[in-house]
Order: sequence, then structure tokens, then C-alpha cells
Amino acid sequence: MTYLRNTWYVAAWGEQIRAGELVTRRILGEPIVMFRTEDGGIAAMADVCAHRFAPLHAGKLLPGDRLQCPYHGLQYGPDGICVHNPHGQGRIPASARVRSYPALEKHTLVWIWMGEDAPDPSRIPDFSVLDTASPQLTSKRDWLRMDVDYLLITENLLDLSHVSFLHEGILGNEDTVPAAISVEERGATLWVSRVMSNVRPPGLFDLMFKRDGGRVDHWATMRWDSPGCFLNDAGVTPVNRPREEGTGILGTHFLTPETAETTLYHFAAVRQNPVSWGEAIDTDIRAQMSELRRHAFEDQDKVIIEAQQRALLDPAARTDRPVLLEIDAGPVRFRRILERMLAQEAAMRIASATA
Ligand code: FES
Ligand SMILES: [Fe+2]
Repeated sequence: MTYLRNTWYVAAWGEQIRAGELVTRRILGEPIVMFRTEDGGIAAMADVCAHRFAPLHAGKLLPGDRLQCPYHGLQYGPDGICVHNPHGQGRIPASARVRSYPALEKHTLVWIWMGEDAPDPSRIPDFSVLDTASPQLTSKRDWLRMDVDYLLITENLLDLSHVSFLHEGILGNEDTVPAAISVEERGATLWVSRVMSNVRPPGLFDLMFKRDGGRVDHWATMRWDSPGCFLNDAGVTPVNRPREEGTGILGTHFLTPETAETTLYHFAAVRQNPVSWGEAIDTDIRAQMSELRRHAFEDQDKVIIEAQQRALLDPAARTDRPVLLEIDAGPVRFRRILERMLAQEAAMRIASATA
């Protein structure tokens, strides 16, 4: 599988990288170990010792941001260069180094740059909503692993017509099937909008709004920033009234390919224009926002997309020509953008190799 490399991927929530701990991830097929440096930054390097290939995450973090290999004790600095050899004369061969990856924390997430080009922090998409929202209005910062190609989850998130069926009751219902769909593209960013008029509110939204099942207008606009970042602006408002009179969520989703067939999926949601029902109910809404979304992604999306992945890998089940429907406008468009970006990256690689 060819991945976009000169771009940022989410490696973890910032709170998952705690001082003194080693955290391992596989990203774009590469084993990586991360830790928090003494100045509060993030170190990320190949999780394979340069000597006999032991996994560094099984080693020890020593004072001075030194990572000691568990096998024969070579010590590496956060830049992946060996700084101490406890054996013989202590000579450090120039080849005693492992690849290090640029990594930083922004919007409460840890971002890692997997390419060879210089990293550009300004290319991290705007998720400042995660910085500014109060904890009471923010769901748990959660994550799960899906045994699927991340592109299948991308298709899922860019075609939210599935909520009426797969997440019936929680995020959609029979009324939310008919929707006006529009797609807008700017650079490497895509917006896919669904607008539904005069519908029964999906459970999660009713919980936050009137809590009476009364009819609403409902919207969901999913922003996609290549290759795997999503911001879903979704809400409900009284029928024929402006959105400012309603309430909703800003749902964030981050897909990171582990391998061609497994994906790390980080997610959290923030309430927007919240209606307050008092401390106790607001706390319950926060808990339900966390639990219902996890339930939808883990027990519903994951199950169906993993089955879809198995079908795609099964020569007896797969078809080379899937039927396309109007609802596929977003998925078709993102594939085109991604293919264009992959072609650009390949062309630049060839150009720099032949320069
Ligand atoms: S394998 Fe790491 S020091 Fe030998
Ligand atoms: Fe879903």
C-alpha cells in the first residue's frame, strides 16, 4: 500500500504520553516508540535497536532523555543517536543510530511526520476546538483499533447516510434518510454536507436539545483534511429556524494507518452552542456523548467495516465494480484528491532522486 508520507498523522492523544513511560505504535507499517522528554516535548524513534534489533519500548527511560535498549544496554538520545555504549572501550559506531521522527503536541494530540521532507507544523489542520472547550462539554478522548484499511473508514465518515441504518436511534433514524447532499473541495480539504428538514431528532441530539422527541431541522457537515482528519459539525435546530437557535456537536475523528489492514482511530466530541440542563444532567449528557459515540464506532461501524474488509479480501465475495449511488459523492471525491496527492508525492520523489 502506498501512503502519503510528507504529512502529519495522529500518533496518540497527548495525555497518553506520560512522563517516564514508553509508548509503542505502528504507523504506516513502521514500529515506533515514543516518550515525553524532560522539557515536556515528544520524542519518537524507530522501535528497533540498531545492534540486534531488540524492541526499544521494552527498555528503560533514563535521566537525560536516554532510552536504554533492554538487550545489551546501548543508550539512545531523543534524536535516535546512540549516546552511550556500556561495552569494551565504549566506542560508539557512527551507524549506532535509529531513525527519529519529528513529533509534536497540538490540539491535545500528538502528531508525527512520516516523510523525508522538512516537517511543516502549519500544515496541521485546525482542531483548536479541542484546546478551548471546557471539560464538561467535551467527551472522553477515546481511541480504538479497527482491522481495516483506513480508506474504508474514510468512506464511512464521508458518507453519513449510513447513520440512519447502522446507528438507527442514536445518530439517525428513518426520517434522516432523505437529505440534501453537497460537496465542496478546496485544496486538500473536502466538506460533505447533509441537510435534513423536519425530522424526528436522532437520540444523541434530542438528549442535548429539547429532550422531548420534537421535530427539528438537522445538519451534518463533515470536513476532511487529507489524509485522515475529520471535523463533523452536526446539530439540530427548531424547524425552519437558524442553526444558532439549536445545539449540537463538533465531532473529531483521526485515522492513522497502522498497516494496510489495520487502523488507529482516535475520536472525541465537543458540544457546540450547548443547552444547559443543570450540573447533574449536563454531566450525564457528557457521559452519554462518550458512551454512545464509542458504542456506535466500536459495536456498529467497526463490525460492519471489518466485515466489508474481509469481503474485499475474499476472492469469492468481492466485486471489482461496486455500484455507485448519489451518497458516494464524498467518498469518490476524496479518493480523487488523495490519488492526486500521492501522484504528486511520487513525482517529487523521482525528481529528487534524479536531481
Ligand atoms: S539489541 Fe540493543 S543493545 Fe543489543
Ligand atoms: Fe458510523
